[in-house]
Formats: sequence, structure tokens, C-alpha cells
Amino acid sequence: MILVIMIWLRLILFLCFLNLSLSELNNKKFPSDFFFGCATAAFQIEGAWNEDGKSPSVWDTRNHIVPSVISDNSTADIACDSYHKYKEDVALLKAIGVNHYRFSISWPRILPNGFDDYINPLGVGYYKNLIAELKANNIEPLITIIHGDLPQVLDDIGGYYSPSFPDWITDFARVAFKEFGDDVKYWFTFNEPYEVCIWDGAEKAYNCAANLLKAHAKIWHMYNEEFRATQQGKLSMVLNLNWYEPETNSTEDITAAETMLQFSWGFFAHPLYYGDWPEIMKTRIAYRSKLEGYNQSRLPEFTAEEIEYIKGTNDFFSLNTYTTSMVRAIPEPEIGQPDTTKDTGVYTYQPDDWPSAASPWLKIVPWGIRKLLKWLKNEYFDPDMLITENGYSDATGQLDDPIRTNYLREYLSNVKDAMDYDGVKVFGYNVWSLIDNFEWMNGYTQKFGLVYVDMNDPNRTRTRKDSSYYYQKVCETRCIVDECVE
Ligand code: NOJ
Repeated sequence: MILVIMIWLRLILFLCFLNLSLSELNNKKFPSDFFFGCATAAFQIEGAWNEDGKSPSVWDTRNHIVPSVISDNSTADIACDSYHKYKEDVALLKAIGVNHYRFSISWPRILPNGFDDYINPLGVGYYKNLIAELKANNIEPLITIIHGDLPQVLDDIGGYYSPSFPDWITDFARVAFKEFGDDVKYWFTFNEPYEVCIWDGAEKAYNCAANLLKAHAKIWHMYNEEFRATQQGKLSMVLNLNWYEPETNSTEDITAAETMLQFSWGFFAHPLYYGDWPEIMKTRIAYRSKLEGYNQSRLPEFTAEEIEYIKGTNDFFSLNTYTTSMVRAIPEPEIGQPDTTKDTGVYTYQPDDWPSAASPWLKIVPWGIRKLLKWLKNEYFDPDMLITENGYSDATGQLDDPIRTNYLREYLSNVKDAMDYDGVKVFGYNVWSLIDNFEWMNGYTQKFGLVYVDMNDPNRTRTRKDSSYYYQKVCETRCIVDECVE
């Protein structure tokens, strides 16, 4: 009997999912000034890991651990070789027809000592050439200051945890603004700070987050004082995570989903917009820390001065989002080892029957992005929003990739619905990624590109996938279906 009920429940859930994901596609055109772009990151595409004066980043070190800790034993030593093939990348962007390109700059390539005592002219030159090539093709550069690749020399002296970290990265950002800022109007300080910090565990993650927030704010204030008047750019922190959907309509599940949204998006966004951590994080972490025997909360307290300093430092809201999770209310998890998941006090999962990408965490749930955008709008004072990453991975890099095309179509449709019907101010969208690239611990086993890169070919030959032609049509027509109305 229980089995029959379970099967029925699954079926109902699946039908709800189908219904939501197959709901009608939006047939209105995106605004003419909408940013359509693609995103990449230095470490994942450039290669040339020890060329022209570049020093190693923490990821170079990780890549070279013996035996390998990367799932396919690969490295990013050459990756897509974009350091040498950036003109090909720009030609692809041009052919696809995007008007923006989001990439990151490598700190150890520009400042091999980590500090600004020595600026590597070849490192700076590489990005100047890339920017010039983009500009020559009418593609606006959007730059991430750090996307994972912290210089190893700085990690050796405390890295993200050092009280001096905000000064170090502010010095790096100053070099970037001086060298490239006349041509760049949109800057991102950190990519996915949640991912940078959360894996360090419940004793360190919150300190890491506090330091990254201070670092972000310091860069923002420095830009304000030294560059904003002349360069007129905007800065934000790229936040990431999922939409969290309550499992049922019960008050408990709804509250649990809200708690999860605060622990994920609110972790960084709340300080950026209100100056301080979300109340629920403060209460829960203090409560659990006490029971665990700590004298004070594992969540550090910001001073009144820090709150003022951090508040209001996101000029627009930039987000990476790919998927959705369900949330269920559960009894208070047992007290024991400190644990960031237990700190949330809720249970999250993704049903097995949701279609999945090659990345196991990436279930295809197009309706989630609309709900997320609406929640963020309401929570953070109706900000201008830029989707800095969204995309789909497969394991093969196949050129015939209808699932990716569908993913893009349905997610874009939901983005447009959020704009049209929920009044969310989205001004741009970036596909992750332009080309198949190094997917961190997963090496080259999860391919997100609109363009295939042959990793066995020393030339790293690039071939466009079908989805790139679909996206080209979207860029051209601003329409995601065959025919649109204005
Ligand atoms: C988020 C990260 O910013 C990017 O580096 C990564 O490759 C993609 N998402 C896909 O996991």
C-alpha cells in the first residue's frame, strides 16, 4: 500500500514538474538594450599556467597534487589555450552575436608576487589585447576580478583569512581599474563567494565570508574615491545558488525554504544590502554554537562601523544560477561537530526523477529561475539584475545538443516572464560557457560550452555546437521562439 502511495506521489510530482516546465514559452522580444553574453573564467580556459612570468595560483597547486585529486587526472596547464587563442574566442563571440563577454583576470598573471610591487607587463598586455579585440568587434567586456585563482604566494600567508586580504585584493583591483577601467563599465569583485568559503567548514566558513565582504566593500569604496567619477563603472559581487522550493504548502516547509534562501543568498546579499547577516543566521548559529560549547557564536559579529561600510556596496545584483532544490522542515539536527548544513536546520534535496545534466547537482528546472528572480527583487529593494551565469553540462561535448538548446530556451522564457509579469529588472543574461573548459575538480568531464573544444588536439580546435546557433538567433532577434511580438 505504502509503495502504491509513493508511486502515485512521485507521478503527481513529475506531472506538476512537466506542467511547469512545459508551460507556454514567452514570445515577447527582449529589450533592444538587453545584454546577451557568454561567460568564462581565466583559470578554466587560459592555460599558459607558467608562461610569461605568471606565478601559480592555488588551483595550479591543487592540479599538480600527486596522485591527482581531479576526477579525470587532468590539469588546466593548457586548458583551452585561450592565452594564445583569445582571437579565436572573440571571433566565436562575434559569430554568435553576443554584445557582452564576461571573463576574469588572473591575479598571479598580473601580479606574480601577489602584491602590486611588481606589475607583469606581459600579463597586463594579454588582457589589454583581449579587451582591444573585443572592442574592435563591438563586444563589451565584463570583468571578474577574482574567479577562484588566488595567487599561491598569498595563500601561503593566510589567503582569504588574513586580516590583510582586503588590502591585498584592493591593491590588485586598483591595478585592474588603472589598466583596464577606461574600457570596462561592469566589474565583479568575487565570483561565488559562497563556494569559496563554505567548503572550509562551520568553524571557518563564516570568518571567510566576513573577510570577503570586507574586501568587496573596500574595493567598492576605493573605486568610489579613485575611479568612479572618471570611469563611471559599476561593481557587484557575483552571488550564486539555487531556488529553494518548499516541499509542501505547510507553514513549516515554507518557513524552512525561506530559511534556506537566507542561508544561501542572504549569506552575502543581506550584508551587501542591509549591512549585516540575516537575522535567522544570527539566531540559529548562535543557538547551535552555544550548545556545541562555544563561548560565542561561530558567526562573527560585524561592528556598527563595518555594517555601515558594507551596506549598499552592490551597484547591481549579479547572479549565477542553474537549478532548484526542494526544502523540507525537519526537527533540530543533533548537536555534535559544527556543520554548516546542520546550521540551516532544514533538509534540501532534488528528486531523482528531475532530469539531470552531467553535473549531478544540475537538475533542469526552468520555473525555478523565475521564482528566484522574484524573491530577490522583493528581498533586495528591486535591484537591477544581471544573470552572470546559466547553462547546461553534458559529458560528451556533442555538437548535436538539443537538451542544451531547450535548457536555454526554457530558462530564458522564465527570465522574460519574470521581467514581464513580476516586474523584475533583469538587464542581461550570460551563458556559461562560451567554450567547453576545465570544470574544477571534475576536470573536462562536464562540458558546458556552446562551442566544443577538442582537448586531445594540441591546437585545441573549437567547433560550434547546435546550441550556439540557437543562441545566435536569440541574440539576433531578441526572441527565444520562432516568431515574437515586440
Ligand atoms: C559556477 C562557476 O562560476 C564556474 O566556474 C563553473 O564552471 C560553473 N558554475 C559550472 O559549474
